This record gives sequence, C-alpha cells and structure tokens, in this order.
Amino acid sequence: MTVSDNKNKDVYNPSKGILDKANIRGYEKLYQQSIKNPEAFWAGIAKELNWYKPWKKVLEWKYPFAKWFVDGKTNIVANAVDRHLTTFRRNKIAIIWEGENNETKTLSYYALNREVSKFANVLKAAGIKKGDRVTIYMPRIPEQVIAMLATAKIGAIHSVVYGGFSVEALHARIIDSASKVVITADGGYMNNKIVQLKSITDEAVKRSPSVETVIVVKRIGHDINMESGRDYWYHDLMNLPIASPKCETEVMDAEDPLYILYTSGTTGAPKGVVHTIGGYMTYIYATMKYVFDIKEEDRWWCTADPGWVTGHSYIVYAPLMLGTTSIMYEGSPTYPYPDRWWSIVEKYGVNVLYTTPTGIRSLMRFGELWVNRRDLSSLRLLGTVGEPINPEAWRWYYRVIGKEKCPIMDTWWQTETGGFMITPLPETPLRPGSAAKPFFGIVADVVDEKGRPVSPNMEGSLIIKKPWPGMLRTIYRDPERYKKVYWEKIPGNVYTTGDSAKKDEDGYIWIIGRQDDVIKVSGYRLGTAEIESALVSHPAVAEAAAIGKPHEIKGTAIKVFVVLRTGFSASDDLMDELRSHVAKELGPIAKPEEIQFVDSLPKTRSGKIMRRLLKARELGMPEGDISTLEE
Ligand code: PRX
Repeated sequence: MTVSDNKNKDVYNPSKGILDKANIRGYEKLYQQSIKNPEAFWAGIAKELNWYKPWKKVLEWKYPFAKWFVDGKTNIVANAVDRHLTTFRRNKIAIIWEGENNETKTLSYYALNREVSKFANVLKAAGIKKGDRVTIYMPRIPEQVIAMLATAKIGAIHSVVYGGFSVEALHARIIDSASKVVITADGGYMNNKIVQLKSITDEAVKRSPSVETVIVVKRIGHDINMESGRDYWYHDLMNLPIASPKCETEVMDAEDPLYILYTSGTTGAPKGVVHTIGGYMTYIYATMKYVFDIKEEDRWWCTADPGWVTGHSYIVYAPLMLGTTSIMYEGSPTYPYPDRWWSIVEKYGVNVLYTTPTGIRSLMRFGELWVNRRDLSSLRLLGTVGEPINPEAWRWYYRVIGKEKCPIMDTWWQTETGGFMITPLPETPLRPGSAAKPFFGIVADVVDEKGRPVSPNMEGSLIIKKPWPGMLRTIYRDPERYKKVYWEKIPGNVYTTGDSAKKDEDGYIWIIGRQDDVIKVSGYRLGTAEIESALVSHPAVAEAAAIGKPHEIKGTAIKVFVVLRTGFSASDDLMDELRSHVAKELGPIAKPEEIQFVDSLPKTRSGKIMRRLLKARELGMPEGDISTLEE
C-alpha cells in the first residue's frame, strides 16, 4: 500500500497485490448499477445460494414493511452447512475454537453437521417446533454456534443473549420472546474468572413462566444447581437415542423469522430486532464476500461474541455460507498476557482479522513489543466495527498490526441492518476515520431534521432511503414501534439510523456517533434508560440520569447523576455499591465509570430528564435550547 496526498488528505491506497486478487473491482460503476436496478443486483447474488423453491418477486415494499424474495423457500442452514457436505468442503475446517485456557477444538463441516443435526433432534424432543423461540445464553464455545444452527435448522427462532449480560437483561429478553427452552452453560471463562451463567439463568427463569426446559453445557465442571424435570445436561441429551445424527433441514419461507436479537433503544425495554431468512442470508453473504474478499483458503477471525449481531452475521452465518474457516476465541484479549490475540493470529495463520476500535485501543497501550514478538505475516486484510475509530488507533492498527500492507475495512452497520452498510472495499483508497461509501444497493445520505441533504462536511443525520435485503423486518410483537422508531423520525419515508455523520466532498461518510439516548461503551450498545432503571431498583436511589462521556479506551464511558432517597447519604461506599448493583442487574459492561450525587436533575416541564443538558454541562459545551427547562 502506498500513502498519497490527495487534496491534502491522508489517503491509503491498496497495493497491486490486493487489487489483483480482489473479488470485486470497479465500485463506482457497479454501485450505480446496483442502485439503479437493485432487484436485479440482489437476485444475482441470491442465485449463488441454494433455494428449495425460487422466489416469485424480489421485493415487495409496502412502506415501511419489506418482503424480499417473495415465496422463495430456503433455510440458512442449507446454505451454511448442508450444501458443503457434497463438496470437498465436507472435510474443510468450519470452526477453529480456542479456549481461554489454551484448549483447542476444531469442527469440519462434516462434524458440524453431525453436531447440529443431533442437537436439532434434541430440541425437537424438547417440544420445539417451527416458529418457537429458543433463548441461547452461553459463553463463547462451539456449542453456542451449534445451538444457533440447530434452532435455525428446524425452523425455530433463536434469541441469543450476550453472556456478559446479567439477570435483568436476560429476564427481559426471555419474557418478551416467551421462549420455551433456554440453552446455557454451567459457567464461562473470562479473564481467568468464572462467569456464573447458570445461577443467573436460574434467577431469570424463576420469573419466566414460558420456560419449560433448560439445557446446560458443562464448560466448567463445578457444582451447580440442576432443577429436576427442568434442567438437563447437554452431553446427557446428546448421548440419548433421540439425538440421531440425521435430521432434515426444515423448508422455510424466505420471510420466516430467523432470529430475534434484542438491542437497546431509547426506552428501558430492549427492542427485539427481527431478521428473516432469505434477505438476511443474501445480504450478509454478499457483504462478507466483497468487503472481506474471502478466498477458499482463508482463515477468518472475527473477535466478536456470537451474542451480538457481529457474531451472528460474521462469526456464524456469513463465514459458513462462504465455506470459510472461522476462528472463535473464548476469552479475554489480555489473558494471560497482552499478546493473546496476536498469538492466535500467529498460531492459526489468520488472514483476515475483524475487531473493534476498543479492542485496538486497549491493546495499543501495552506497546508494540507485545505485537512484535508474534509473526503476523499471514494477515492480508483488517476490519473494525462498532464505534468510530479515531485516526490514531487506525494508524496504529495499520502500521503495527497490518505492517502497512493490509487495508482496513471500517464497516459501519447496526443490529437492525443485518450486515455492513457503509464500508470500503479492498480497492477503496482509505481515509482513517471514515467508513467510506455505501455498499452496493444501499442509498444513504446525511440530512437535516427535515430530510434535506446537508452541505458537504456538515453534520447531519445518517439515513437510508431504500429498503435492502438485510434490513430488520419489524420489532418483535411491536410493528408500531418499528414504524415510529425507524421510519417516522425524519420526513421522506426514510430509515433513521440514529447516528450523526458528515459526508465529505468526495462522498466519503464520517460517522460521528449516536444522536439518541444510546451509549456505545467499548462498542457495546446500552440505553441510558436501561442503566437508569437498574439504578433506581436500588433502595437508595430516587432518580438517576446516565450520559456518555468520551473515554480514551472505551470510546465512551458511562457517567450517572444520582438523586438519593431521603435517609441515604452520599459516600464512597455507596458509590461502589451502586456500581456493583448495576453490574449485577445488567452486566459488567454497564457498570458506570463515574457516579455523581446531585440534589436534583434538570427536567423539562413535562418531567423528562434533560440528559442533553447534563452532557453539555459535563463536557463544557454550549447548552443549546433550554427553553423547555423547568425552573
Ligand atoms: O453508532 C453506530 C455504531 O454502532 C451502532 C450500532 O450498534 P449495534 O447495533 O450494537 O451494532 C454494532 C455492530 C454492527 C451504530 O448505530 N457503529 C457501528 N459500526 C460503526 C459505528 N460507528 C462508527 N463506525 C463504525 N464502523
């Protein structure tokens, strides 16, 4: 790669080697074609996949509800697993798993199919039918992927809950989805500590009447509570005759739901983002193939957790659909030493690495020696996701990890979008901090509150103007909320992303951050309302307001302002107790960085907390319009 000065901008051009091998070239022309005739473009991609029955119509758009590949019949597992079994890929490694304690497991496509089929039969025996919901609350172990695929194989709907969440977050998600089965483990390892997944599950399930069965993978082997008639060991069930390795993959409609993935929004109740099968699989397949330029011989490593959308799309489904070898690491990037990630790159010869700005920043601070001890010469492409990457971290990633030869794909997308939306391609001249341009078929713009495009380099709202196959179809059981949250905020029948951005004169998009009450802590998405409701569930707290504050490593950290109930007084002990309380209720990622005790919170006359004002004051920024402030 060469660095050139393009209009005084810092631009990184791909090397000839990268260009020569790219799966796709000629973005500008292809992009224009793709938005001129998106249906033809997407049909072309979908034809690379297996369908039991072809679709009759590519898109049916009744604002704001889309159907893609109408009447087509397929199953994502038929594409992610089954179709490889009749080719050389049956012997190819599908998943390489590394445990935090150095254990390794590999599953070929053949072995993966066996495990998935067996567990699909177990789920059937547990009474799971097409359309039923299954909650998966697990550590990062191969059984997590097997559970997802087994659920999809029989046409049930998975709701994966991130293993770092705690009781309240898990409970809310089980209740909303009314899951019959919960799959968990006796615990998980993270940073040499045991995460007590089973006791958290017990707490959550106790108050969830829909749950009939809890299936428990033995990861740790310590004593846990097993409730007779409800809880079963995974390995026991997999040894029963019901767990036959033969299981037909269910024929599904393209628009049948594949999964629900809960994500934070502006109210306390998490939103159940619903993705359906046909469009989603087509979209993530295309994005992975073109953006990460996947080759048959590649080893791909996405450091995310399958509990987030990044893991759903780019650890599990897209890599497997492409027949790739996907690496999965269980634990912490710094255990036992800060070179753990780099040792995994070296050990497995990773070719494409996809991670987060927080991951990069947190390893940057340990210095280059930790990196340079390891051979990273296998790397060809790098990627980031989840939050804006600051140019300093970008350059470090480029120079120290990529040795100035690996283009960085800064992919902007959301749980709701299914896959990458604004992203470079390997051929794109890169500008550190910009996610470059819209993917094929995506019509994006930066507009003001009335929906009018803003001038180049001016801040505005990032919107998407046309439906795309990977888009969420609705919010589970709440189509009205779907409409209101995503399609009615900005005039013009456009999808509101909730992010602010700028577009430069060359059409490069620069994401600034969230515009709403969502905080991105280390790339994890949390709602201020969720944090506040965890706080007010503590007896000492009368009211709370959470804001995001810039943080050197986490990108954004949580600060909360707390009004205490009478009879309680501020102290360091209480501060610690409240921080732990939030971690216990919601999960360690939600632990506030700072707590400030205050006598009152600024509110509007209608009683809404003005977080915007708290934030402006905290950061010493202009207070903006405070005419609605209550005296
Ligand atoms: O604010 C944007 C930020 O992450 C949000 C979506 O979060 P979530 O649904 O948890 O999905 C994360 C993984 C796809 C976006 O609204 N975001 C995501 N990618 C980027 C980003 N911000 C800047 N640059 C990115 N590449």
